[in-house]
This record gives sequence, C-alpha cells and structure tokens, in this order.
Amino acid sequence: MDHTAYDAHAEHFDLLIAGMWRALTPSLTAELRGLDPQQGPAVDVGAGTGRGTELLARLNPGVEVLAVEPSPALRTALFTRIGADPDLARRVTVLPGTATGSVLPDRVCAVLLANAVSELSPADRRELWRSAARRLAPGAPLVVNLGVPGGVPDTPVRIGGREYRNTGAVLPGEPGRVHWRITTEVREAGTVVQRRTAEHVSWEVTLPQLCQELTRAGLRPRRAGVVVVATR
Ligand SMILES: C[S@@+](CC[C@H](N)C(=O)[O-])C[C@H]1O[C@@H](n2cnc3c(N)ncnc32)[C@H](O)[C@@H]1O
Repeated sequence: MDHTAYDAHAEHFDLLIAGMWRALTPSLTAELRGLDPQQGPAVDVGAGTGRGTELLARLNPGVEVLAVEPSPALRTALFTRIGADPDLARRVTVLPGTATGSVLPDRVCAVLLANAVSELSPADRRELWRSAARRLAPGAPLVVNLGVPGGVPDTPVRIGGREYRNTGAVLPGEPGRVHWRITTEVREAGTVVQRRTAEHVSWEVTLPQLCQELTRAGLRPRRAGVVVVATR
C-alpha cells in the first residue's frame, strides 16, 4: 500500500472522523465488551488515530491491544493518544505495518477493522479473513463495518474560532474501485479560509460480498447493528 495515502488527511483526520465514531460506537460497544484476556490480545487493524484501539482497551480493562497502522502520519496521532494515557501506554502495542504484513500472535481475543475494509484489496481481505479465522479463539469476534470517510458529509467540528468540515464525492473510475475526492474546508465567521482537496482510491465492498468472503474463510458472519461480526 501507499503509506502516504493519508498524509493529506492526517491533520484533521481525528477531528473529522468523530461523527462516524458516534454512529459506530454503540454497535462496537455491544460486540467488543467482555473479551477474554486469557485468549490473547485484541487487534485493531488500520487503527488510524486510535479511536477503536482506545475503545477496545476501555471496554476490556485486562486486555492488551495491538494497533496495526501503516500510515506514519496517522501513527503520530495514535502515539499521542496512547502516550497521553498511562493505562493505554501499558496495554497497547503499535505495529507499524499493514493488515497482511504484520506478525500477529497465534491466538487473539478479537479483531477490529473499523472504517478500513475498503482500504484492502480483495487478495488482502482474503488473507486477513484467513489469518483471523486461524487466530481467533472460539467465540471471539472479528468486527468489521462497511462505512468509509467521505461516504457521508462529516459533521462540522468547531475548534476555537474555526469550523472544520469534510465532504466527499465519488468520481468515475475503474470497476471495483471507488475514487473519492475529499474536500476539507475550514471556515471562520462563515467564510472559507482554507480549502484542501485530496483524492483517495479505495475498493468497493458490498455487504453480501463481505459475508461471502468471511464464510469462505471458515467464519460465521452475522449483522449486529451497523457492523458485521464473524466468529469461528
Ligand atoms: C479511514 S481510516 C480508519 C482509521 C480508524 N480505524 C478509524 O476508524 O478511526 C483507514 C485506515 O486504514 C489504514 N490502512 C490502509 N491500508 C491498510 C492496510 N493494507 N493494512 C492495514 N491498514 C491499512 C489507513 O492507514 C487508515 O488508518
């Protein structure tokens, strides 16, 4: 993967993904609570700035978390979040790699892939599902959602005297790929003072396709609120 793909978004990424996390958190909380630390660490794949990593750790005080994140720019915010909290700093290990290029333990108590499935090619997804199916303890969840940033206009976020907002538009592109143009606008007193546009190409993944892929990997998927949960 291109490890610079998130550079243009990194500055405002954590602010502007807050709205997606408000929508995602109730389902994740229901599915990721009560993990068994005896079954190994939980893995947050494509951890970004660490919102899912922190949720996994907060919901499960005895569990260690592996945060897999390939983008150095997003890892800056990830390390800041973890380093600012002694409990997270003790329990979270950051793996600076990709979903399929990171060495994971033989047993894990959960795998989370939040807002990131469309970053993975079909071959990478197949490899990740197979890896999860081998490693997940019986009953332990793989939790995935299909949402992507840019898919819905982000809620504007106010920081001091300025307001920050992302909007996404899909451009025509290759079949099976989704070509996003994501525009970040900064307003002050209603006037745009900064506008930055970045393009991002992700993969198209539908719910039936995701469920079929998980089933082929030997997992049993089910819908749970806005996420898909798969177990062995
Ligand atoms: C939209 S962000 C979501 C970040 C975070 N999970 C969240 O929801 O706040 C997608 C993430 O997937 C990561 N990513 C992209 N390709 C990846 C790969 N091959 N393996 C693991 N993560 C990847 C990106 O660097 C980015 O952090």
